[in-house]
Amino acid sequence: MKRLLTIIFAVSCLLTTKAQDKVLPLIQNVKAYESLSLNGDWHYIVDVQEEGYYDYRMNPTRWGFFQNAKPQRPEDLIEYDFDKSPTMKIPSDWNTQDERLFFYEGTVWFKTSFQAVPMNDCRTLLYFAAVNYDCHVYLNGRHVGHHIGGFTPFNYDVSDLLREGENTLIVKVDNKRHAEDVPTQIFDWWNYGGITRDVWLVKVPMVYLEDYDLQLTKADAKAKQREISFKAKISKAEAGHKVCVYIPDLKLEQQLTTDGEGKVSGTLKVSAKKLSLWSPANPRLYRVDISLDTSTITDEIGFRTIETRDKQILLNGQPIFLKGISIHNEKANGGGRANTVEDARTLLSWAQDLGCNFVRLAHYPHHEEMVREAERMGILVWSEIPVYWTIAWKNAQTYANARQQLTDMISRDHNRANIIIWSIANETPHSAERDTFLGNLAQYARTLDNTRLISMAMEVTGASNYVNRLNDNMNQYVDVVSFNQYIGWYRDVNDAPKMRWEIPYNKPVIISEFGGGAKYGLHGEKNQRWTEEFQENLYIENLAMIDKIEGLAGTTPWILKDFRSPRRVLPGVQDYYNMKGLLSDKGEKKKAFFVLQKWYNQK
Ligand code: GCU
Repeated sequence: MKRLLTIIFAVSCLLTTKAQDKVLPLIQNVKAYESLSLNGDWHYIVDVQEEGYYDYRMNPTRWGFFQNAKPQRPEDLIEYDFDKSPTMKIPSDWNTQDERLFFYEGTVWFKTSFQAVPMNDCRTLLYFAAVNYDCHVYLNGRHVGHHIGGFTPFNYDVSDLLREGENTLIVKVDNKRHAEDVPTQIFDWWNYGGITRDVWLVKVPMVYLEDYDLQLTKADAKAKQREISFKAKISKAEAGHKVCVYIPDLKLEQQLTTDGEGKVSGTLKVSAKKLSLWSPANPRLYRVDISLDTSTITDEIGFRTIETRDKQILLNGQPIFLKGISIHNEKANGGGRANTVEDARTLLSWAQDLGCNFVRLAHYPHHEEMVREAERMGILVWSEIPVYWTIAWKNAQTYANARQQLTDMISRDHNRANIIIWSIANETPHSAERDTFLGNLAQYARTLDNTRLISMAMEVTGASNYVNRLNDNMNQYVDVVSFNQYIGWYRDVNDAPKMRWEIPYNKPVIISEFGGGAKYGLHGEKNQRWTEEFQENLYIENLAMIDKIEGLAGTTPWILKDFRSPRRVLPGVQDYYNMKGLLSDKGEKKKAFFVLQKWYNQK
């Protein structure tokens, strides 16, 4: 089912191509550019033994499925045919699209085709919003690139690989788990495989705006004037290009010229009275036009400051309590990976109904629309990379992988006013190697963005005689001390009233997880596990307990809705769902939902 896409695209005359990896730094605000969506029905081939990639000696073969070969003569032997293979909707995970693949972890090949028409005054980028986990991309039989990491975008310059007429895009996706991966072999969420987020062909000028950054500079509360720092980098290290930033509603404009590295930086000054600061109560976004030479793109940006002072978190200089909830990037109603603005609205409106002004997007970067919709709705965000549980701390590739995912997470979302915390890890075991790994990541994160807070979800390190201690060498690297605790679920709920906490750091504290499971509609005594009454009581006890913690600046209970996990196998109760949601997967509110809602309404 070949889809005809009549668009004007560059078939540059530079057909000098060599099959080197064509990965580029991530383009900022990709949706600002004219692009063609390649979403739709793609053919797929399930390739358990990677017959399409290796020969029978397990050497990569030149005659792989990426050739999209067809028999030319009657005697020709071609043992695959994409066009006769089934199709599935892209973007999506394969687990919920083909019931044979529900538990499948391995390789699946995808193929789509489109038409291109010559244009040689622009470039063409191929942009994947996310592919889980390990993928090879081929265009017209040529290797475009290899990417690992399931939750961050990547883009390639395919200008010189495009053909006039029919073009064939083939993607090999493998979601098998390995110890050296990020995340590693075990994790408590479904390992949804596939091309899980949007795919675009993006038309950009020969020299385009690779990245730009607008941030409100911190200032004294009484400051009469505020400063907005503006930085940009173009796609070529070249001086003399004109860059202009214009904020119509503030009548702010600045013309700048690139230096030899293709960079500009400046400061826009605005009277404090005129500037409406972004906050949950006032999610004000400003239209911003940024032009480079003759082309202009537009973004929607909010201005706010975030910082800590002793044990307080200050938004726009004012203490704020983060009324949060943790969320996985999963559609409701068993729908698989979330990837649309509608998915975001569903999950975020449930969170707002709970009384939240904050969400922890666990344990990996969620789709961009999740962050942007939260920004429009006035919801603050904790964004995290999947350095989860016991990572291969000594492995240099593992570190490079984690560092790349951190780079891409921050690159994609550093202009989002609602993101206040970058989290670099979750529940990691203490060791010198771990401290080095995470210490380096935290410091690196600050070089990428020194305007936001750094944190990670730690664990209680010692508990005796009802005294819970948090001794973690990582405290020196984080701005906010966050930890998960499961009193009432993995520990006895009756201990909650007696609990005391020793958190020897003069920093704000966030309880990044607490909670317990319940099956919606299952009722019984409050000491009967899996009943709504058990979960309700657990929340009552935990909220009373954490309210006494000195320096508590927020919490993100585990979790908004029940979500799929291969680690949860109790028949008739879990059935491959983690049941710690305050809502069922269908959005049915459990009793504990109302306990937390009431607590937040009083906060
Ligand atoms: C952990 C972990 C979560 C997990 C939760 C649970 O704390 O961070 O990913 O789902 O506990 O046990 O339900």
